[in-house]
Amino acid sequence: MSNLKRNGKLRWSPSYLRNRGQLTRAQKRAQRDLWPFYGIPFRFDEVIDPTDHFPCAGEPLIVEIGFGMGDHLIALAEALPRRNLLGIEVHRPGIAAAMAKAHVAGVENLRVMRGDARLVLTDHFESEIADTVLIQFPDPWPHPGDAHRRLVQPGMVAVIRERLQKNGHLLITTDVEVYADHCRDIVLSSPGWKEVDDSAFSRHRIITQYERKAINEGRSIHELKFQKA
Ligand SMILES: C[S@@+](CC[C@H](N)C(=O)[O-])C[C@H]1O[C@@H](n2cnc3c(N)ncnc32)[C@H](O)[C@@H]1O
Repeated sequence: MSNLKRNGKLRWSPSYLRNRGQLTRAQKRAQRDLWPFYGIPFRFDEVIDPTDHFPCAGEPLIVEIGFGMGDHLIALAEALPRRNLLGIEVHRPGIAAAMAKAHVAGVENLRVMRGDARLVLTDHFESEIADTVLIQFPDPWPHPGDAHRRLVQPGMVAVIRERLQKNGHLLITTDVEVYADHCRDIVLSSPGWKEVDDSAFSRHRIITQYERKAINEGRSIHELKFQKA
């Protein structure tokens, strides 16, 4: 049993905005029709064995945390058909939209879980399941008073490290310089990480609507790459 087990009780502040919008009719349909294929449901005390859910048996997972509307996750699943991808997101309309896009793209190597990634990774997996964890444009919480709500915190970094295989990568992309500095400080002051220049997965990164808006508004994109030592 993981020494990180928390049994459904989140001890950190929410890193996301609650109640962000209702499902459209199309999203409700996607939720009803596509969740049985793409969704991994779980009870509060259930530990998931990835081999029960993914088509490429025994392959480590690529995990994307906070995939939003799923564009990057689906592009990655299409580019890497022999890999297993897991998306974790709290936002129900985003999950439904992503499943609809995955269905249209005919993507089958992708599954999604709904919940706070910190709890999902802590309570619902036990071993080193992934070789890559991606966090694309986490909610920045730029004001110092909100810094406790940032997703990248020492506890989260420890959970991710426990789920990564040796030499696995954590890739974080942000358009907020203060968040990039925050992430570098948090990860490099946590035990067992080093910063690296490259990762096999950065070349598959696509520019999502969120990133396009950031570029159009003149913000620089910071791509941080860390490796589990
Ligand atoms: C700013 S959006 C970026 C979405 C997407 N990655 C992109 O690049 O377009 C951040 C996303 O992270 C999700 N999120 C924030 N905290 C999370 C958490 N603890 N667990 C899972 N998802 C989370 C939010 O719901 C939101 O969809």
